[in-house]
Amino acid sequence: MVAFRPTFLALLAAVPTLVSALTIAEIQGTSFQSPYAGKAVTDVPGVVTVKGPAGFWLRSTSPDKDDRTSESIYVFTGSNAAGKAILATVNAGDVLVVDGKVDEYRSGKDQLFLTELINPTNIRKTASGMAVEPLVLGKERSPPTEEYTSLDNGNVFNYPNNVTDVETVNPTLNPKKYGLDFWESLEGELVKVRKPVALGVSNQYGDVWVRGDWKVTGLNKRGGLTVNWKNKKTVDANPEAILIGSPLDGTKNDDTFMGNTVEEITGVVTYAFGFYRILPLTKLKVTGAPSPAVTSPTKLKSDGKCAITFGSYNVENMSPKSSHIPLVASQIITFMNSPDLLFIQEIQDNDGATQSPITSANATLSALTASISSQGGPTYAFLEVAPENLKDGGAPGGNIRTAYLYNPAVLTLDTPNPGTYSDKAVVAKDGTLSFNPGRIDPANSAWTATRKPLVALFKTVKSGKRVYAVNVHMSSKGGSSSLHGSARPPINGAIEARIQQNTVMRQFIGEVLKADKNANILASGDFNEFMQTPAFANIWDGVLHDSDEVVGEKDVERYSYVFDMNTQMLDHLFVSDRLSKRQGLLGLFKKRLEVEHVHINSWETYDARTSDHDPSVGRVNVCY
Ligand SMILES: *[C@@H]1O[C@H](CO)[C@@H](O)[C@H](O)[C@H]1NC(C)=O
Ligand SMILES: *[C@@H]1O[C@H](CO)[C@@H](O)[C@H](O)[C@H]1NC(C)=O
Repeated sequence: MVAFRPTFLALLAAVPTLVSALTIAEIQGTSFQSPYAGKAVTDVPGVVTVKGPAGFWLRSTSPDKDDRTSESIYVFTGSNAAGKAILATVNAGDVLVVDGKVDEYRSGKDQLFLTELINPTNIRKTASGMAVEPLVLGKERSPPTEEYTSLDNGNVFNYPNNVTDVETVNPTLNPKKYGLDFWESLEGELVKVRKPVALGVSNQYGDVWVRGDWKVTGLNKRGGLTVNWKNKKTVDANPEAILIGSPLDGTKNDDTFMGNTVEEITGVVTYAFGFYRILPLTKLKVTGAPSPAVTSPTKLKSDGKCAITFGSYNVENMSPKSSHIPLVASQIITFMNSPDLLFIQEIQDNDGATQSPITSANATLSALTASISSQGGPTYAFLEVAPENLKDGGAPGGNIRTAYLYNPAVLTLDTPNPGTYSDKAVVAKDGTLSFNPGRIDPANSAWTATRKPLVALFKTVKSGKRVYAVNVHMSSKGGSSSLHGSARPPINGAIEARIQQNTVMRQFIGEVLKADKNANILASGDFNEFMQTPAFANIWDGVLHDSDEVVGEKDVERYSYVFDMNTQMLDHLFVSDRLSKRQGLLGLFKKRLEVEHVHINSWETYDARTSDHDPSVGRVNVCY
């Protein structure tokens, strides 16, 4: 007996670990990765549910009762001649026994792994023509509605982020509570989505986010799903949404916009390009649209004296040659009702995104104001401080900046003294600005490669009241990772920069309030961040108020942007204490502030959009 031992050990080492007759559920396991990853398996039984261009999906013929383990798996044959030959031998409804190797595949290290069977061999067909029914989502299984993973500590936007990652921890799935766990537990499964509704625009590949006939939270009136607080600890970021990818029949999905109803979808759950997605068998077909077709114009009207109106709009890379100038001009007149004061972001210089020493945007702003007046709007004056060439980020050479348009019949600059890009606006004891308009602490490293806020002190022409305006466009979220990605909490690109930027602004606003604690202050623009980011949420406490809070806008109607599955608020408006209060003695009268978000873009198709952001409008009473 002793003599045989070495031979036996040698044999063990030479043969790859081979595991026979596992069920698909055992291969998928109860966590993100397969416990058999890298192992050869034999005699895996299943029925073919769907054939794709480079493989097929196999569903277990002996399912377990554990919701954590998927009962289906993708069998990758490959699209070369050998793979095609194998694929040609199988059809949906075939009952097979397969040998192969368990593989965890991802195309980038920021993504999640897809568990699949590769190098399938020895495919034995034991029956054919077996009926395969999709699992009905919303009936047999329903996605959770708030959290994504156990690794986000209750908030997918938690800070600090990127502290851990799914594929290193490989947590045990809890599909009732966490969205990624839910979709992972259905990896490879043939599913049906009943009564789907599109959550936003389809991208250039035709991929579109939908909700189905299951419980959702964060539902806005238009039919999209909005990021909102469940409470100040748990954020509802809508993991119940699912992406519909390219149809398996090679066609392209219909174009969608928020609230489109869609024909019932049948397809397979997979993970690709950073997201769980359903690959539909046939293209997604739009069946209906929400009404009204376009948003209503604001009814907020200026009285020209005390109740003054304002608006804020990121006009997306506007240069003098931009074809969208007349459109933006008409939106300002029609939908925003020609506010007395406009905070504009993304104005490019006079030669647009061309590398040259030109940084002034007076031609761009003249073109916009001329278009407004030629279409019957007011004759606006404008204010800008041209940035230092190539120092404020955005499209190279475009030198995007924030700028003001104001109606000179209603507002005038109080003690004008325009600054240059390097001049730092300082608040004097009497509340005037050393540079008006001027930039806030432009040399501060918080603003490296991004826009410096533009401050201006206005006075109402007819009532002589002061209004401070701060127009911002903070660092973008570029470099962020997918909410369905491996990094947890997901990487929120440049959040450290935005925290610093808000901190510098907070300090400046503090100086204004030191000069006049009852100052009328409007700080508006593209903050590029959610209030639901804990690092951002409290930064203005005690200094400025979020206008949505002041006016009591419903959580789910606070949005100016749609990104992936989520409708969201990036373009905030903050007001000083005085403007947050009611008018008159003892606060008996109506609020000094009114605010509305005008969804002229987030309700549109990609092609029909004028900008990627919605504008907001408001009215403040600066007298009473
Ligand atoms: C995220 O964390 C990983 C692992 O620590 C690191 O390699 C990567 O550079 C981080 N990414 C960012 C953008 O911080
Ligand atoms: C822009 O400013 C320059 C320099 O002040 C001036 O010569 C030019 O006429 C202005 N252009 C427009 C369109 O206002």
